[in-house]
Amino acid sequence: MRAIIPVAGVGARLRPHTYTLPKVLLNVAGKPILGHILDALERQGISEATIVVGYKADLVEEYVRSNYNLDVSFANQDDPMGLGHSVWIARESIRNDEPLLIILGDTIFDVDLALASHSGYCSLGVKTVVDPRRFGVVETDGTFITRLVEKPEVPPSNSAIVGLYYITNPALLKSCLDDLIRHNKRNRGEYQLTDALQMMIERGERFTTFPVEGWYDCGKPETLLATNRHLLDDASAYSVRDKTVIIPPVFIADSAKIVNSVIGPYATVAENTTVMDSVVRNSIVSDGATVTSSLLEESIIGNHSIVRGKFLRLNVGDSSEIDRC
Ligand code: G1P
Repeated sequence: MRAIIPVAGVGARLRPHTYTLPKVLLNVAGKPILGHILDALERQGISEATIVVGYKADLVEEYVRSNYNLDVSFANQDDPMGLGHSVWIARESIRNDEPLLIILGDTIFDVDLALASHSGYCSLGVKTVVDPRRFGVVETDGTFITRLVEKPEVPPSNSAIVGLYYITNPALLKSCLDDLIRHNKRNRGEYQLTDALQMMIERGERFTTFPVEGWYDCGKPETLLATNRHLLDDASAYSVRDKTVIIPPVFIADSAKIVNSVIGPYATVAENTTVMDSVVRNSIVSDGATVTSSLLEESIIGNHSIVRGKFLRLNVGDSSEIDRC
């Protein structure tokens, strides 16, 4: 089975970090968001992927090629025209004779993908949410989906589409996407995957849903930190250091130099970082950053940044220098 992973977005809500890196390469719990997704796919036996790139495509491609042995192809979405459009861009790599998994590249899921194929029909991952208005929403008759609506003002249910789509009829999906694009059927200015799936239903395809409880958004600093906390709960990794107190869960890369500090709980300290005379908790210190004499809480420190002084909450992009006199 092939996975289509759209990762073309700019990630504006994660600026300044996304000025230098695409969102999917931001570090969470010791590796890029995209790394968590590709590892999950490999664990579940999916070894073919098409990654739809756009913003900072070269960095995504380099990361994947140098870290993964996947059978991977890249498709370029130069203009961000919606999720339906990005899947359409990948159409040439989609085979008609095998099911397809579409998995959004900016979200980490904790789910057994066997659930997706369980019904034998097309199936969408869903989660019950209090306010589904900023999601695609499904309405069912108890077994099958009867209607799909993208970001409705008056939601027909509280069942939100999480961004995991198992498609057993890729040929029909491609034909519905073709129709959307050929007839310029946009919704909120974009070609919506939800609309193509609704078209598939109207043409007789049956869709079920499967529950996804573990749905971790990485779209803004506070949700990135929440996802970091969640992942660390499951995979704390560190070795004991001299003159340093470690309060798990944490991720501390072996190459990180830690001196006279308190790390954790919920701290990610990435490769080639230096942390001295500091307290770092509920924060991400990205590759190559240096933190000295600082108290960091709920902070994201970009790659190769230098932070010196007493701060509490910092959101510092790559290669910055923050010094307190
Ligand atoms: C996309 C989909 C939407 C889905 C959501 C999940 O929206 O269009 O149906 O519920 O992802 O995150 P976006 O978040 O890209 O606006």
